[in-house]
Amino acid sequence: MKKTILITGGAGFIGSHVVRLMVNKYPDYRIINVDNLTYAGNLENLTDIENKSNYQFIKADIVDSEAVFGIFEKYGPDVVMHLAAESHVDRSISNPLDFVRTNVTGTVNLLNAAKHFWEKPFEGSLFYHISTDEVYGSLGEEGLFTEETPYDPRSPYSASKAASDHFVRAYHHTYGLPVIISNCSNNYGPNQFPEKLIPLFIHNIIQKKPLPVYGKGENVRDWLYVEDHAEAIDLIMHKGKTGETYNIGGHNEWKNIELIRLLCKVMDKKLGREAGTSEGLIQFVKDRAGHDLRYAIDAAKLQKELGWKPSLDFEQGLEKTVEWYLSNKDWLDSVTSGDYLNYYREQYEKR
Ligand code: NAD
Ligand code: TYD
Repeated sequence: MKKTILITGGAGFIGSHVVRLMVNKYPDYRIINVDNLTYAGNLENLTDIENKSNYQFIKADIVDSEAVFGIFEKYGPDVVMHLAAESHVDRSISNPLDFVRTNVTGTVNLLNAAKHFWEKPFEGSLFYHISTDEVYGSLGEEGLFTEETPYDPRSPYSASKAASDHFVRAYHHTYGLPVIISNCSNNYGPNQFPEKLIPLFIHNIIQKKPLPVYGKGENVRDWLYVEDHAEAIDLIMHKGKTGETYNIGGHNEWKNIELIRLLCKVMDKKLGREAGTSEGLIQFVKDRAGHDLRYAIDAAKLQKELGWKPSLDFEQGLEKTVEWYLSNKDWLDSVTSGDYLNYYREQYEKR
């Protein structure tokens, strides 16, 4: 069946993997990628598919309602896969309003356009909102986030994502808009901007720069390889039930310091450095304000109802990721010049 799918944030980390998967797997679908190319958006992530006939890129800001309505009018999307967001917790602590702007206002603009252009009974239409497990707050030593866990966001980033999730559900309940939300755990893999833990540390190890571990490195995250997330998104878009929420996670919890030690080992091996060299770069620095202790997802619903499970174990995924960064040094160099240096100075030199 022919469909037009509007993917927002398709030039970013997860979005670019979703765009690639959809363009290659569904030649009959028209994939429209809307992204305003912030520091985190990079069309170099998509050079392998940019000339495909079923793909089109549009540079637009989702906060610009005229632009968003214009895109809906011109392309008539059947499905919106909404990934555009400000996504980094540390930046949200410095600039919360940037997060309100894109994550809340941008999402409501898209919802308004869908409500305006889609006609009841909304046959074939879907607003699929991609969210995070961080909306559920922070876990202690025990327990997992399920789809029923009450929202308890604790950073400006997670508060803005929680607000966007609430708006999506409100448009479902109030206007009957067909929506699905998925909340995923921490992703890692190729093309992730080197402000997030794994690519930042890979970059610093290559450069023999200090590895700034927040606090004591005791915080726990549940890591999922980005292509496994993209597969889950594809499955949920096609098979998920309207009005439902699906949690996506890797069953793969790591204490930061243990993950970092493993990464150091893999990097030493790949770079041909003596074992222990990279671990010598670890520096414990001032903790992140309000640092959530632990995230862990129960993905049983997605596995039981739609048959999804992650395909890679963490060691395999981490090796693939390291190999990608080592063979794409130009990409890494190009995103770590200019503004990145100011960001790095602001975030880390005062710590
Ligand atoms: P990212 O920061 O790498 O990419 C975000 C993309 O959105 C960029 O291409 C950027 O240019 C674009 N964008 C930002 N503001 C925009 C605006 N106003 N208009 C149009 N485009 C805009 O983010 P990511 O890590 O790929 O995350 C994608 C989505 O997945 C986000 O909604 C995030 O909350 C969610 N998520 C991320 C993770 C993770 O670990 N990275 C985990 C769970 C959920
Ligand atoms: P991050 O990749 O920013 O993802 P999130 O905060 O959304 O989970 O951080 C992952 C973990 O790594 C988190 O506990 C914070 C920690 N961290 C550091 O210790 N040092 C760093 O420089 C960064 C960026 C993160």
